[in-house]
Amino acid sequence: MCGIIGYAGHRDAGTVMMAGLKRMEYRGYDSAGLAVVGDRLEVRKAAGKLANLERQLQTHPIGEAHLGIGHTRWATHGGPTDANAHPHLGPAGRVALVHNGIIENADALRAELAGAEFRSETDSEVAAHLLERAVVGGRTLVEAMREVVARLEGTFTLVAIDANTPGTVVAARRNSPLVIGVGDGERFLASDVASFIEYTREAVELGQDQIVEITATTHTVTGFDGTPGTTRAYHIDWDLAAAEKGGYDWFMRKEIFEQPKAVADTLLGRITARGELALDETRIDPAQLRLVDKIVVVACGTAYHAGLIAKYAIEHWTRLPVEVEIASEFRYRDPVITPTTLVVTISQSGETADTLMATRHAREQHAKVISICNTNGATIPRESDAVIYTHAGPEIGVASTKGFTTQLIACYLLGLYLAQVRGTKFGDEIAELVEELEALPAKMQAVLDDLGLTLTLARDLLREPVYLFLGRHVGYPVALEGALKLKEIAYVHAEGFAAGELKHGPIALVENRLPVFIVVPPRGRDQLHDKVVSNIQEVRARGARTIVLAEAGDDEAAAFADTYLPLPSVPTLFQPVLAILPLQVFACEVASQKGYDVDQPRNLAKSVTVE
Ligand code: F6R
Repeated sequence: MCGIIGYAGHRDAGTVMMAGLKRMEYRGYDSAGLAVVGDRLEVRKAAGKLANLERQLQTHPIGEAHLGIGHTRWATHGGPTDANAHPHLGPAGRVALVHNGIIENADALRAELAGAEFRSETDSEVAAHLLERAVVGGRTLVEAMREVVARLEGTFTLVAIDANTPGTVVAARRNSPLVIGVGDGERFLASDVASFIEYTREAVELGQDQIVEITATTHTVTGFDGTPGTTRAYHIDWDLAAAEKGGYDWFMRKEIFEQPKAVADTLLGRITARGELALDETRIDPAQLRLVDKIVVVACGTAYHAGLIAKYAIEHWTRLPVEVEIASEFRYRDPVITPTTLVVTISQSGETADTLMATRHAREQHAKVISICNTNGATIPRESDAVIYTHAGPEIGVASTKGFTTQLIACYLLGLYLAQVRGTKFGDEIAELVEELEALPAKMQAVLDDLGLTLTLARDLLREPVYLFLGRHVGYPVALEGALKLKEIAYVHAEGFAAGELKHGPIALVENRLPVFIVVPPRGRDQLHDKVVSNIQEVRARGARTIVLAEAGDDEAAAFADTYLPLPSVPTLFQPVLAILPLQVFACEVASQKGYDVDQPRNLAKSVTVE
């Protein structure tokens, strides 16, 4: 939520800011702004998408500068107006500041600054005032930042410049992400490495409660208490092309089509020559994993749906009970967590506030936490005992797609790894499943190569106001995920149900021509398969238009389908990786045909860094 950037170097700061903000616009698009220090401090900001700021810069260009900060906003305190857009200035316009997060004691601080004139309704402006007061009082920008953060409560990453300190940008990080980009004669600060990937692939991870001062050639990190800070440098293993649309109309569509590779990359290097699972980043002693007596999976949104699927697989392979919980509920429920509970947090961004708080809560209860994450160096993996990275590359479309399928792969790997170390599956059984996993990318590609029917369907059903999605077993979370995709980007009412629950209420919704998507399990699970085929008949008998996703050659299911979308054969537990693909494409196409902004749906932001 909110993307922030800072720059000190030899390039034109305005150009660097705008390019960086463009790549971070997915983090929030209620308003955008930038400030640079050249001859003087100049600010431009505008409500709405970045294009509005671009237009403003054309009519009111800023002067040449080599130092600046920028912000793209997802509004929390104060509506999406020009005045509430960042950067915010101190009262004399000497300090400019951008903020990501929520300052919870802003009202109290504002009251303390009695007499000061505020230009916005934001919590952030209070920090700008405090910071300017401190520099006017003679502190350096770093000293001033240290003084200010000591007074703030909540979550905040702040980046600031001072007109009287032209070579320096200073930032402070608590809870919201911030990374340093290290270039040749230039330094960047950003919420996401995508914003500077065009200039450098060398990054430094900033820790919790740290302050960093960058100049063109240096970056100096200290703790909030002034002690030298420890950091970790890393090389970003993807490039500019991955952060661009590459000929696709939407990032989401590009990311859907990247899934076979993302899954293959996530599997890469996990399986030894002897067919055993090796999870290098899993730093929990196998002896400890043998003592685990319960697993709790915690996540939000799409990642939560991946967790629901993980439950079926991990329980089946390890015979351990698995609970799956929405992170925002978990944290405030006083869950029963003990040192023998293994908590698995799933987060594409690694920054979701609710999942982060759940991670911390679990560790406070002395449980071990393994995170599944797609973002190197993000807060959640850093604060976990172990991490399994999904190698999906940057996911920029707000609706998660390759994030989801690679999370599933990581969950399968974890389940098989636990089965291996706990001895609940024989080596040959695991090897067989691993082979099936390795065959998935080609099968995904086959689904993506044959989307004609899905696209036609999307155009035919475009005007429908309501859609239902049904599934059983692992097909149930797929139904939830298919419905979520449609809700979030096509703004229609879509609901996922467990097919067996239909008769307990939701079937009352079925009326003539209602589109109902049904995920049918492979025929290997006879009973399960037959039950879902009965469910198709139940809705069809009541006039529903049935869109059936089932194994190729499944004539029983196809017989009751108005539209039959065949899927390659896979073991039941792996079917979600294939079944979700047409549903993602369907949602993308409906939203696209309706003329909506698929990558930046209304009211949403990619990374939810506030609770
Ligand atoms: C839906 C979507 C969200 C995220 C959720 C968790 O398409 O993208 O529901 O899945 O906000 O985000 P991460 O995985 O970054 O923790």
